[in-house]
Amino acid sequence: MKYLEKLFSLDGKVAMVIGGSGVLGGEICMALAGAGAKTAVFYSGSKENAEDRANKIEQIGGEAMISKANVKNEDSISAAIDEVENNWGRVDILVNAPGVNSTTPVMDISEEEWNHILDINLKGAFWASRIAAQKMIDRGEGGSIINISSASSEIPLSKVMTYSISKAGMNNMTRFMAREWAPHKIRVNAVMPGFFPAEQNRKILTEERQKAIFGHTPMNRYGEADELAGIIVWLASENASSFVTGAVLPVDGGFTAMTI
Ligand SMILES: NC(=O)c1ccc[n+]([C@@H]2O[C@H](COP(=O)([O-])OP(=O)(O)OC[C@H]3O[C@@H](n4cnc5c(N)ncnc54)[C@H](O)[C@@H]3O)[C@@H](O)[C@H]2O)c1
Repeated sequence: MKYLEKLFSLDGKVAMVIGGSGVLGGEICMALAGAGAKTAVFYSGSKENAEDRANKIEQIGGEAMISKANVKNEDSISAAIDEVENNWGRVDILVNAPGVNSTTPVMDISEEEWNHILDINLKGAFWASRIAAQKMIDRGEGGSIINISSASSEIPLSKVMTYSISKAGMNNMTRFMAREWAPHKIRVNAVMPGFFPAEQNRKILTEERQKAIFGHTPMNRYGEADELAGIIVWLASENASSFVTGAVLPVDGGFTAMTI
């Protein structure tokens, strides 16, 4: 056990999960807190889900706080990250996991919808990563940034063009930041989940689409949110993934490996 603890323990670390009030973000919070990190659950709308998540973290013996951040607004993210640093004295781990989606046909996508999706899914991660990285650079101890991308970022999915573009941009940004911040011991990686039932995709996962998804997923099922726990703890841990940066990694039951 000592070996595993040394490899994966996040004791003494401070983690922030933007979108921590959501389905995948919530399980990501549990993973980080379960591995020992003090964990800030970020929310944007009602605080109920975030409070609930913080209670769940405390029930497993973890330390949690909640903080409001609208990633469409740089000042809002900055204030939330400041709040975490003021409370716990440092920030070590940032997970960018907010997300919005839509199935509007290409010809009908309005500029407003385009901006809304790109602002939340891509620009928000850009602001948050820069703000957190600056604090990590100032402290000089490095850190880990984990972007929640999507299997749709590498192979174009039907129906969700704007979303897929935002996640493709996120993959590129991940590699770019990884290069630029490696000298500061900040590792930047992305996880590409396949299909996990959640709030933002509830309307999209119709029976017909489920059939198409399962037919293209060798494991023939959806993922469960807690199946992201292992990769998150691994990427967050400076011991377990010390030489991993700029990686964009699928957790998708084989979806991105499948052709015919
Ligand atoms: N569920 C899936 O199948 C799947 C697959 C691939 C990638 N993802 C990604 O995983 C992440 C989590 O999504 P989820 O599926 O758990 O959905 P979810 O709807 O349960 O969670 C989305 C979260 O985004 C937050 N959010 C929305 N707008 C925001 C804003 N302006 N500022 C700050 N936060 C905001 C919401 O409060 C919520 O907590 C997203 O980035 C999503 O794109 C999900």
